[in-house]
Amino acid sequence: MMYTNLLLEVQEGIAVLTINRPKALNALNAQTLQEIHQFFTKDGLAIKDLKGVIVTGAGEKSFVAGADISEFLKLEKGKGKAFAMKGHDIFFAIERFPKPVIAAVNGYALGGGCELAMACHIRVAGEKARFGQPEVNLGILPGYGGTQRLIQLIGKGKAIEMMLTADMIGAEEALRLGLVTHVIPLGQEVAKAKEILQKIATKGPVAVTKVIEAVNAYFNYLADGYNAEADGFSDCTETTDFKEGAAAFLEKRKANFKGE
Ligand code: CAA
Repeated sequence: MMYTNLLLEVQEGIAVLTINRPKALNALNAQTLQEIHQFFTKDGLAIKDLKGVIVTGAGEKSFVAGADISEFLKLEKGKGKAFAMKGHDIFFAIERFPKPVIAAVNGYALGGGCELAMACHIRVAGEKARFGQPEVNLGILPGYGGTQRLIQLIGKGKAIEMMLTADMIGAEEALRLGLVTHVIPLGQEVAKAKEILQKIATKGPVAVTKVIEAVNAYFNYLADGYNAEADGFSDCTETTDFKEGAAAFLEKRKANFKGE
C-alpha cells in the first residue's frame, strides 16, 4: 500500500483515506485516480475486519477541487470518452465497495470532487464546504458521473441548474437539498463520519453490504432493483446473523453479529 497522493490511516477498523495534494487543492490527477482505484479494488478489500472508509481532503480549504485541469491540455484528440470512462470505473468501484464509504467534505468539492463525494454512500460536510459542477466554465460537462448522480441525489430541477450555471452551493443548502446529510463544525467532519461508521458496524454486516447492492441496483438501468432487493433479502435470511438479530430483538438485548 504505497501511495504518492493518498494518506491512509486505519484505526479500529475504519480506514481514513485522505487525498493529499493540498497545493493543487487536492485535484485529481491521473496518479491520484490510479491510487484511489487501487485502494477500492484491491488494498481496501484486503483490510481485515474493515468497518468502512472515510474519504477526505488534506487541508482546511478543499476536499477535492475537481479533475486536474493542468492535465487537460495533454488530452489527445479522440481520447475524451476513455478519459471519462476511466473515471466512471473508479467511481463505480467506490459506489460498489462492499463496506460503507463516507465522504467527509471539508472544503471545496467541485467538478470531479463533487462527483467523488457523490460516489460515496454518505456525505457529511463541514460548515465551510462548497459544492458545484463548474465544468461548463471549462467548456466541458461533468465527466465522472456528475450528470447522473447529482440528479439522483437532489432531483433534476436543481441539478440541471447547477450544472448549466456552474453556481456553487454552501453546506447548508447542500443539506437542504439532500446532497449531504449532516453539516458539522469545521474540523469535525471525519469524527462525525467515524461516529456514523461505528453505528453501522453494530448492524448485520451481510445486511449492510446487501443494502448497498440493492440501492445501487435501483440506479442501474441494466439491473432490476426489486430483484436485487429480493435476492439480497433471501441471502440475508440464510445467515445465522438473521436468526441472531431476530432473537436479540425478542429477548430485548443487543445482537451479537458475526458476519456469517
Ligand atoms: N486542477 C488543477 N489545479 C487546480 C485545480 C484543478 N481543478 N483547482 C485549483 N487548482 C490549483 C490552482 O491552479 C492553484 O495553483 P497555483 O497555486 O499553482 O496557481 C491552487 O490550486 C490554488 O487555487 P486558486 O489559486 O485558484 O485558489 P482560489 O482560492 O483562488 O480558488 C477555487 C479556489 C474556486 C476552487 C479555484 O481553484 C477553482 O475554481 N478551481 C477549479 C475548479 C474546477 O473548475 N473544477 C472542475 C475541474 S473539471 C472536472 O472536474 C471534470 C470532470 O468532471 C471529470
